[in-house]
Amino acid sequence: MRRVEALIERLAVAGWLTQDPVRAALHDVPRHVFAPPTAWTGDGDPVSEKVDPEGWFDLVYGDDAIITQLDDGATDLAAGAGRFTSSLSAPSTVVSLLELLDVEPGHRVLDVGTGTGWTAALLAHLVGSQNVTTVEVDPAVSGRAAANLKQAGCAPRLVVGDGAEGWARGAPYDRVHATCAVARVPYAWVEQTRPGGVIVTPYDPGFGSSHELRLVVMPDGTAVGRFTGYASYMMMRAQRHPEWDTSGRRGEVSTTDIDPRTIGYAPAGADLAMGAALPGVCARGERDADAYVLRLWGPDAWASARYEPGRESFEVEQGGDRALWDLAVTAYFGWITRRSPGRDRFGLTVTPTGDRVWLDRPGVIG
Ligand SMILES: C[S@@+](CC[C@H](N)C(=O)[O-])C[C@H]1O[C@@H](n2cnc3c(N)ncnc32)[C@H](O)[C@@H]1O
Repeated sequence: MRRVEALIERLAVAGWLTQDPVRAALHDVPRHVFAPPTAWTGDGDPVSEKVDPEGWFDLVYGDDAIITQLDDGATDLAAGAGRFTSSLSAPSTVVSLLELLDVEPGHRVLDVGTGTGWTAALLAHLVGSQNVTTVEVDPAVSGRAAANLKQAGCAPRLVVGDGAEGWARGAPYDRVHATCAVARVPYAWVEQTRPGGVIVTPYDPGFGSSHELRLVVMPDGTAVGRFTGYASYMMMRAQRHPEWDTSGRRGEVSTTDIDPRTIGYAPAGADLAMGAALPGVCARGERDADAYVLRLWGPDAWASARYEPGRESFEVEQGGDRALWDLAVTAYFGWITRRSPGRDRFGLTVTPTGDRVWLDRPGVIG
């Protein structure tokens, strides 16, 4: 079996690939044209097309993202370490977003985060090149995408700019497809989409899990939709979460009977509820041998809670204007009281003044 057919089979068996037009696009658009000459998944060793062509093709037709840029281009890929800032997205996540997008031939699509150009090419296969506008913030990345797209024989409109602004000159769109994650859905996307149009984007508010989000634009100028699954993508540049940094600061130390892993390992629905209660607050856990540290931080406050094996109670340190650990614990038990709703019961409404997570029905706060 050819590698692309094996990949298609694998995605179909896993349940990612169900729609014939998406299957045909995956088959006809050659992913290897969009892959860099040295492919690296961020794990293991890079594989050079020249040195090991078989290994390179295996990687390119596997189900991994291939890293194409580190630190916005400031670090050479050969360094093998740095922040991942652009990639050729993983086939399963690409297929998942494309199927959610539910395109019809002739739909006008705004694609945000061109990257290598692969997803723009898949969209062009689905709706026609003339109907696809793809926006990339990084001129060098966009330049390489232009060359890849040319080689693949496909010509969507390429725009270099901030995808958070959409691209008004191409509006109205029937579909907006983002392959960089947002913590806040840009209202420009809603404004530039016709009523009934669909926006599909990775959503990562910073609190634990990240999510796949499908919104429908309403006649009143809002967009409403639900979280449909897991999605791990690089953040939109201007919306990147701040790093944890408490250097030189001391907080108030206390103890808790609640195992910090209860909050840190909570399922996606709990993360959405806690994130909604603590907008702008990030939560990340880190294992440290047998121990585990949960960190919470926002613009005004921070907290850490440490699990250590064999202890009856656990140390908590909280600093700043709010006691973030206490607030997260309250939000977590509020979620338990509401019978632990799963991710699919949460949704989001986007308005000109911002967006709001809800539970079951728009307006009801999760
Ligand atoms: C995961 S990559 C997209 C990969 C693409 N789907 C592919 O398969 O080649 C995310 C891209 O979003 C771009 N990006 C980040 N912030 C952006 C913004 N504000 N506007 C447009 N593009 C942005 C990054 O530079 C990066 O190239």
